[in-house]
Amino acid sequence: MFDFGYLSYMKYIVITIDGPAGAGKTTVSRMLADRLSYKYIDTGALYRGIAFEAKSAGLAYDDDAGLETLCSALNMKFVRNENGTRLLSGQSDITDNIRTPEITMFTSAVSARPVVRKYLLDVQRNMGREKGVVFEGRDMGTVVFPDADVKFFLDASVRTRALRRYKELAHETGQTYKKVEEDLNQRDKNDSTRTMAPLKPAEDAVIINSTEHSAEEVVEFMLSHI
Ligand code: DC
Repeated sequence: MFDFGYLSYMKYIVITIDGPAGAGKTTVSRMLADRLSYKYIDTGALYRGIAFEAKSAGLAYDDDAGLETLCSALNMKFVRNENGTRLLSGQSDITDNIRTPEITMFTSAVSARPVVRKYLLDVQRNMGREKGVVFEGRDMGTVVFPDADVKFFLDASVRTRALRRYKELAHETGQTYKKVEEDLNQRDKNDSTRTMAPLKPAEDAVIINSTEHSAEEVVEFMLSHI
């Protein structure tokens, strides 16, 4: 372990971590934010929140007018309480509703709509004003914070990523490994081939392949880079 005491003298910065589903972004981002005493923002949860609200309102993924009206009336925020970080939409805690396989696939479709991305662009940039934040997502380093001080792109083999998701989800959803891998491949394809803000590493991102590394090793590497 390195001694990172000197980081307390460092200026507060914006750190972005992008990458495909199951690459370990959430675990690593949380750990990195903890080590630096930074805030951590899971932007996928914001896209999931919109998808959940759209589904609840009976909207189709491509109903741009409906999505625009929905977004303009939304008030989502993260709060920390004894149950960890929770996502509120208005007064409702929707944290436990946004990770079902159905919402996951719907999110990938809804997040490709320019009206949705435009709405969240401002929301995310406002969250980054304070600095001292680790942002996790797909386009953090390319579109939302192109001037971020430090950018990482976290990847891993399809098998490793699908296995991680399978272990996380199987007991709750009963999905087979094959179905988890199919969904993951479909989502990778949607997220990286959409016209607006597709998933790709920023030119100045440090690319990390976590296939053979634990979350702790990845975080140590990130800290040494920072
Ligand atoms: O990180 P996640 O699996 O919770 O993200 C869910 C979906 O949201 C993902 O399939 C693509 C979309 N997303 C996005 O388009 N841009 C982001 N910055 C974060 C997520």
